[in-house]
Amino acid sequence: MKEQNHGKLKRDFKSLYRKILLASVVVAIVGIALIYFMVDPSLSAFKANEPDTEIVDMPVEDDFDKIENGIHSRTGFIDAPGMTETIQNCTNCHSSKLVIQNRMNAERWKTTIKWMQETQNLWDLGENEAVIINYLVTNYPPKKVGRRAVLTDIEWYQLEE
Ligand code: HEC
Repeated sequence: MKEQNHGKLKRDFKSLYRKILLASVVVAIVGIALIYFMVDPSLSAFKANEPDTEIVDMPVEDDFDKIENGIHSRTGFIDAPGMTETIQNCTNCHSSKLVIQNRMNAERWKTTIKWMQETQNLWDLGENEAVIINYLVTNYPPKKVGRRAVLTDIEWYQLEE
């Protein structure tokens, strides 16, 4: 009789223990799901393959090549034939300012480009070289520094010894 009671008690405990375990597992899963939902309410982690339209639709592209009053906003280059080639080849390593502030003739541009190709890893510009040089010389002509005018009507005098 005593043994039987003891066995039943053991079985009751076992079944109660199993129920508690199951309940805790359910509570834990629901709890984790709730916390996850609070952290990420849109459950975006489960929509991995949808394109992120928010970023795609941003107007960055529009401003990227905006021309205002004949000036390319992003680089400051004058909008004229050859500007695109110049932007594409001459603003990768240094600012466009370095290009704009250096006013040279075609010959010196050729030398500068050759120098960058030999020492700074500038690539072969191919047909664009002529386009770029023409753009630079036309829109940023060398400032007239030149020599002073030849002196005329001078009264020379003899140095006395
Ligand atoms: C691969 C990189 C690279 C590219 C592309 C590049 N440059 Fe340069 N350029 C340089 C470096 C490096 C210098 C030296 C910068 C410095 O001294 O701070 C330089 C210097 C210059 C200078 C100043 C030269 C001087 O005598 O001080 C001018 C002007 C210039 N570049 C124009 C151009 C033009 C025009 C193009 C397009 C055809 C161009 N760069 C493309 C790397 C490049």
